[in-house]
Amino acid sequence: MADRPYRIPVLHGTVRKGARSARVAQLVTNRLAAQPDAETRLIDIESLGLVGNDEGTSIKDPEFSRLVDQADGLVIVAPEYNHGYPASLKHALDTNYSEYVHKPVGLVGVSTGALGGARMIENLLPVLRAVGLVPVQRDVTVGNVADAFDGEGNLTNEGTLERIDGMLRELRWMAATLRRGREAIPADPGRKPATCPGCSSPMNQHGTLIDEEAGGTVGRVHACPLCGRSEAETG
Ligand SMILES: Cc1cc2nc3c(=O)[nH]c(=O)nc-3n(C[C@H](O)[C@H](O)[C@H](O)COP(=O)(O)O)c2cc1C
Repeated sequence: MADRPYRIPVLHGTVRKGARSARVAQLVTNRLAAQPDAETRLIDIESLGLVGNDEGTSIKDPEFSRLVDQADGLVIVAPEYNHGYPASLKHALDTNYSEYVHKPVGLVGVSTGALGGARMIENLLPVLRAVGLVPVQRDVTVGNVADAFDGEGNLTNEGTLERIDGMLRELRWMAATLRRGREAIPADPGRKPATCPGCSSPMNQHGTLIDEEAGGTVGRVHACPLCGRSEAETG
């Protein structure tokens, strides 16, 4: 098994101009970047340039898909809009599929209200499961976000930082555990391994691609233990 750092991008889940959650997303990215075993980067949905007149994997942004494909986990920092998740977050999430399978995701909800996006998180969970992401147990909620930072950009509630760090610790443990599983534990030990298109190593089949409309399983997902690449095989 390769000794690569854990790649965990942070997705800021709104395109609203002046979004207060952007500051929280930057903070989470900075906390993750400070970990010696992690690599991260902040993904801004607007910069992906996704079209607004179509949906799904056919409109994927190649760089976003590459980042998710090579990731060992994901953090989503998103505000609560009318008790749900922003439409722009769902639009962006729907552009990938096999790239997510059996990877952990940590959630940070943000709101001006006291509940800190807790309802957004609850509503997002079934969506994440549908695309194959594995939500970690610990969430972070940042309520009263208008007062969450002081004039110097520091959090006014120290407990928030502890909760972010606690969630990131669990996320890295899940990233390590699920990476081992994706790369080394076969879902169907009888199958001949696929060959990695990137480095020609034998890949491990760890998951399936499910299409409800097509009536079930439509393919398999493989991971390369050497370079970490994932590959979707349909049919
Ligand atoms: C369309 C819309 C709906 C919102 N709905 C809620 C809500 O249901 N609960 C809540 O606490 N705040 C709600 N807010 C306020 C957000 O919590 C607030 O804008 C906060 O700063 C986080 O969102 P932001 O990152 O877009 O700034 C809503 C804001 C918008 C723009």
